Amino acid sequence: MGDSKKSNVTLKRSLTDAMQEALNAQILMEARSSYSYLAAASWCEKEGYEHSAQYLYTHANEEREHMLKIFRYVNEAGGHAIAPSITNLKYKYDSLRQVFEHILEHEISVTHAINELVDSSFSLKDFATFQFLQWFVTEQREEEKLSRRAVEIFDIIGEKGQGLWLIDKEIGRLDQLAHGGGAK
Ligand SMILES: [Fe+2]
Ligand SMILES: [Fe+2]
Repeated sequence: MGDSKKSNVTLKRSLTDAMQEALNAQILMEARSSYSYLAAASWCEKEGYEHSAQYLYTHANEEREHMLKIFRYVNEAGGHAIAPSITNLKYKYDSLRQVFEHILEHEISVTHAINELVDSSFSLKDFATFQFLQWFVTEQREEEKLSRRAVEIFDIIGEKGQGLWLIDKEIGRLDQLAHGGGAK
């Protein structure tokens, strides 16, 4: 037996190359989310929308946590998580409303990506990954709800007069709603 070849490393894990590749793509997407939130936070801060900036800084951290969750999962499953490089971020916005419309669209696209991942894990009979992804399914429901609420605030309050000042304050309060700080 001394002469026998070493087994291929991929045989030592159940994580398939296809699943690993899909998870790495999601790592990249979560990192992009984190930096998009950061870029938007900076724009809001520069424009004087303090509460919106705070909300976006907090969310930039949360997206980084999402990225790390998948990152660690891939390596713990015997795979190789790839540290993402982020380019082509949007740094400027025409209005505060545009920031939050952009975020809502982005969160919806993340939900679709998570759904695709869940679908792949099921097709590949990778039930460990399927189970792991359930946290993200629930998280996206929350993220979409919050993002939708943010856009609705613009319609409810209206942007004229002191409207934008009030909208900014209300967006700052969204986080309390999401993290159990207030009654639903
Ligand atoms: Fe995320
Ligand atoms: Fe998100």
